[in-house]
Amino acid sequence: MDHRRVLLAVSGGIAAYKVPELVRALRADGHEVRCVLTRSAAEFVSPLALQTLSGSRVRAELFDAEQEGEIDHIALADWADLVVVAPATAHVLARMAHGLADDLVTTLLLATRAPVLVAPAMNVNMWAHPATRANVESLRGRGVLFVGPASGPLACGWEGEGRMAEPAEIAASVRLALGPASLAGRRVVVTAGGTREPLDTVRALTNRSSGKMGFAVAAEAARRGAEVVLVAGPGGLATPAGVRRLDVETALEMREAVFAELPRADALVMAAAVADFRPAERAEHKIKKEDLPEDAAPTLALVRNPDILAEASRRPGRGVVVGFAAESRDVLAAAQRKLERKGCDLLVANDVSRADAGFDSDSNAVSFVWPGGDVEELPLLSKSEVAARLWDRVEKLLGSGA
Ligand code: CTP
Repeated sequence: MDHRRVLLAVSGGIAAYKVPELVRALRADGHEVRCVLTRSAAEFVSPLALQTLSGSRVRAELFDAEQEGEIDHIALADWADLVVVAPATAHVLARMAHGLADDLVTTLLLATRAPVLVAPAMNVNMWAHPATRANVESLRGRGVLFVGPASGPLACGWEGEGRMAEPAEIAASVRLALGPASLAGRRVVVTAGGTREPLDTVRALTNRSSGKMGFAVAAEAARRGAEVVLVAGPGGLATPAGVRRLDVETALEMREAVFAELPRADALVMAAAVADFRPAERAEHKIKKEDLPEDAAPTLALVRNPDILAEASRRPGRGVVVGFAAESRDVLAAAQRKLERKGCDLLVANDVSRADAGFDSDSNAVSFVWPGGDVEELPLLSKSEVAARLWDRVEKLLGSGA
């Protein structure tokens, strides 16, 4: 198992008594573990026990002159490959959801760019309360991972959902969340979403791409330890953990961002739905009807946008280049022609005429189309699963020095 760094944040619930067992399980998996505590956590678990088992100093105070000298709290947030909050009380979930930074644990959670895995533990009614539900939803929306809570008798005397997941189960979720680290040391560029090509100050040409597929590709690469730059078209999706995001609007801006990053990249995945055409002119002010003859409509003149994928594929010394193809009929043949025209190493073809796949869906049914005519048809999968299969293939290409 790879040697990864887990920052374990412990908050003050009775389930904290199980944390020493969790530390042991994480160490047994080969992880390096450091523990930080909220002030009330120390009422439920001995800092000395955690220190002994983790083999490293336990911290509870944000401003501790002695310990800041050793490793300051921002360095600690940066150190982590994964932050685990176990147990996570309703209070800590609320503070996380609202972005508070009023102690060491919440400050670290706000400062870290690592993925966060949360193991909630609380009274059944607190877990079911709309306030907690809203906080959990908001955290999930930002990509925070959850394990548990389980159902059963609770320390408070109630019975129901609220028990912290068992240490072995949390350790298994940590293994999953950390992934195989198979892209450690690699730099990858991923594009996502549609582009928006302005006509004037208020109108634009755009397309239906949600960006979900590209964001899933970026998230999976980060999970596997790559340094990821995500060049994202307009859209409201949360930035995946550990990903550097560059927001762009037009195809020309996307091209510029991609080529600025490309020289240092081992791989480029063009999941974006780049607009092929843009208005020939962008009016400086809103186009007004009163400036036109009665009942007349302006004629829209379009010009071609550069093809980023084709251009990247032609660059000497480039890394692996992967394209996507949104097709609505004769999918595989069209994708094969597109692959040859663009010159990339792999094309992910998807049939956007299906309702359960493609635009804005959480699932996708794709085929991997290879130069020379080989095709792998994948079943309907979640976009995260498609992303995992995609990186499995790219890793092989990287390994073979493509
Ligand atoms: N692409 C690109 N630059 C463009 C257009 C597309 O880099 N100006 C990339 C997309 O990111 C995708 C691939 O090319 O990886 C294929 O996109 P798609 O829209 O399916 O193909 P087009 O080249 O636009 O062909 P057509 O629309 O004619 O099918």
